[in-house]
Amino acid sequence: MFWFGLLVRALAPALRDPERREIAGLFLFAAIAIPVFYLPAMFFDGTTHFSVVDAWRFWIIHLWVEGFFEFFVTVMVAIIFLQFGVVARLTATRVIYLDAILYFAGGFIGTGHHWYWTGQTSFNLALSALFSALEVVPLTLITLDAWDFVRLSRPGSDPARERVEVPHKWTFYFLMAVGFWNFVGAGIFGFLINLPIVSYFETGTLLTINHGHAAMMGVFGMLGIGLIVFAIRQTVDEAQWLVLEKYVRVGFWGLNGGLLLMVVMSLFPAGVLQLVDVLENGYWHARSLAYTGGDLARLLEWCRLPGDLVFIVFGVVPIAIAAVRAYLKNRKTLPAADVRIL
Ligand code: HEM
Ligand SMILES: [Fe+2]
Repeated sequence: MFWFGLLVRALAPALRDPERREIAGLFLFAAIAIPVFYLPAMFFDGTTHFSVVDAWRFWIIHLWVEGFFEFFVTVMVAIIFLQFGVVARLTATRVIYLDAILYFAGGFIGTGHHWYWTGQTSFNLALSALFSALEVVPLTLITLDAWDFVRLSRPGSDPARERVEVPHKWTFYFLMAVGFWNFVGAGIFGFLINLPIVSYFETGTLLTINHGHAAMMGVFGMLGIGLIVFAIRQTVDEAQWLVLEKYVRVGFWGLNGGLLLMVVMSLFPAGVLQLVDVLENGYWHARSLAYTGGDLARLLEWCRLPGDLVFIVFGVVPIAIAAVRAYLKNRKTLPAADVRIL
């Protein structure tokens, strides 16, 4: 709620301007939905029945990541492109509405793909399998958008090119990473475990973790960091940026490379092998110490280490250094009027 208060404060001028009011309003709507949808978590505790807890738990997790976060991302990205002058206001607004319809059409009923085995009816199984499969459509659209941005930033392809490349090149790169991970992490890895017949054997194995990591960090993590980079670039001058950009460049490749290594070297192969064990020896076996404590499973767990190290040392640390340095340099000198979201 505090965060929402900050947003309202920053957007107050845009809300008063008839031209900008609509997009600013959509942005605030997406933002308020995030804390509001957390509220159900306040009403259960250790004594509540498991299936009730799981219903509300996924009301939060799923409706955040496959509903309001995605909606928030779309509005945020649209606003950034508006700011760069790459898209017209009307186009941006249309894209937002279209995406909202697609997300919520699939996303709301799709929540049930977490409730296949919590005692719900087979009607839930059928409907949620169908609608959550449809969620891949808007994800693909976002990815196609990302390719449009790549095209825009190629030499000579568009008059807006110069404004795209300079000065917000790295924000764009992070947005493209969002598109990439959306496709791989949410689209492919999510879809892979989405059918009830797969989920029946797979749920609770490392393939879920594989999808969760690639989608959560890949999409919303990269977006968050892209926005941090955007804010850094907006608030430092050319000379400071020349220094900070080096950290951001290393950070970009460190985060993406680290996440990729985690997935390729550990989570995905370990998930597939665990699923094979479910099929061969039964679910109980694949989740017992007899399996998870075995040599191969242990080895694959250790294979997380290189990816984690790259992610932290070359990803998290340089971005943190860039953010702290930008903040320390500018907290005294920055005129408040320069910081505008819309
Ligand atoms: C950016 C979008 C997405 C994010 C951030 C995301 C994140 C996650 C996370 C963190 C979990 C684990 C939740 C838990 O067990 O506590 C999960 C589970 C799951 N996700 Fe996604 N997801 C996304 C999109 C999708 C899509 C598009 C699909 C299907 C087409 C999907 C299908 C599933 C399924 C079926 C599970 C449950 C697996 C199980 O219980 O074993 N997800 N997701
Ligand atoms: Fe979900």
